Formats: sequence, structure tokens, C-alpha cells
Amino acid sequence: MTDEFVVLPDPDAVAQEAARRWQAAAASAIERDGRFSVMLSGGSTPETLYKLLAQEPWRTDLPWEQTYLFWGDERRVPPGHPDSNFRMVQEALLDHVPVPPDQIFPLDGVCLARSSARDYERKLRDHFKLGRRDWPRFDLTLLGLGEDGHTASIFPGTRAVSDLSNMTVVYEVPQLGTQRMTVTLPVINNSRAILILAVGPRKADILATVRGADNMPSTYPIEAIDPADGTLTWLVDEDAAAKLP
Ligand code: 6PG
Repeated sequence: MTDEFVVLPDPDAVAQEAARRWQAAAASAIERDGRFSVMLSGGSTPETLYKLLAQEPWRTDLPWEQTYLFWGDERRVPPGHPDSNFRMVQEALLDHVPVPPDQIFPLDGVCLARSSARDYERKLRDHFKLGRRDWPRFDLTLLGLGEDGHTASIFPGTRAVSDLSNMTVVYEVPQLGTQRMTVTLPVINNSRAILILAVGPRKADILATVRGADNMPSTYPIEAIDPADGTLTWLVDEDAAAKLP
């Protein structure tokens, strides 16, 4: 379960701490496997981190040539669309650091058909050289927290919460009236290290709720984040933590 819950003064401090943990995870992954596999989160919170990693010293100090980037979810939009998680990461980070293009694996937001989910699963199997019953094991997974307790695009009360047999799922999100593609909980929970980033006053209520009691994961999917053999660290700022006891 949760190994660490860290409250920092503001969003920049959260990004700085996340960058230090990114660096540590990268160093141990490369020492162990010669490469660093990261699953990125979308949304506005991690954008501050991505922009920080694109600046010195991280731009120079991090092992971008050995880094492999995947996404945890994508909206039903083309890669150039303002809502695209791929586009957000491309502008904040990829345009500024030397990750080899063949080490960047965006989710296909255009089709978002079932075939896209199967195609992404194939990429995961290839990258991690998986046997039939194996699950991907990311060295670092970044997650955000929605005000309704969703994470990635695993929304409350949807089939994405209960799908424990596929690695990725494409589905119509009732709360949004649009389709999303997301990795599933077994993939996330097989990570070596998970960072959940939550900042700002808008997250104070949901944070107090999910930290205050054990709720049903179907109510608040973030509560299903529980790495079997890995670390889980929350990095939140004081505004988001304002309603915690
Ligand atoms: C996305 C993310 C989503 C996000 C939360 C929080 O694609 O938007 O996967 O789970 O982390 O919605 O979003 P903010 O960071 O913008 O508050």
C-alpha cells in the first residue's frame, strides 16, 4: 500500500521532488536493465514536471537516450489536438530532450478503436518481452487524481475499473460523453514505482475523501492503486492537502 505521502509547499516543489524521484528511478532501472521505461500521465498537473525536466540540469543530467516513454491514457483526439496528452508531452518535454523517436509510444487517439487497444498491448508485449501470462512492469508510472477520484482514464463505476484481464481498454466514458483509451489497473499496479501527483485547492475534497477512509475502488478508482511489488508515493501540495486531518 502507500509507502509515502509527501506534502510540499506548492506545485513547483511537487515538480522538483517528482524530478528527483524520476532521476532516482532512472538510475536504478538503467543499472539493472540498461533502460528506463516510464508510463506518463496526462492532464495539467504533470505538465509542470515535464516542463521542468526539459530545463537544466535535468535536460542534461537525465539519461534520455535510454528512456522509453509510454502513456497511461489518451483522449479521442488526433495527436495535434489541444486535448491530446501526446501533444502536451511533446510540447512540454519531447521537443526539448533527445529521446529517440523509436522509444516514444503514444496511444493512438485517432482511432481509439478496439484494434488500437490491441495494438498498444502488442507494443507493451514487445517492449517488455512478455510471456502470455505476464504483465508489463514499468520502472516509473506517473498518475494524476481527478476530482471524482479517477486516475489515468479509469473512471468511477465504469468497465475500466473492473477490467482486470486486458492491458488496455477503449470505452465510452459516461461522465464525459466521449471515448477514452486507458491502461488498466493490473498494468499500473505492476509498476516498480508509482508517483501520484495532486496539486491545487480543487483536489482538497477528493484527497480528504480518499485519504480519510477506505472506499470502494469502483467509487474512487485511485483507491485501487496498490502496487503488489513496488512503491507508491503521493506528492501533493499544501493547497491539495488543506482538508486532510
Ligand atoms: C488525463 C489524466 C487524468 C488526470 C486527472 C487530473 O488524461 O487527463 O490521465 O487522469 O491525471 O484528470 O487532471 P489534472 O492534472 O489536469 O487535474
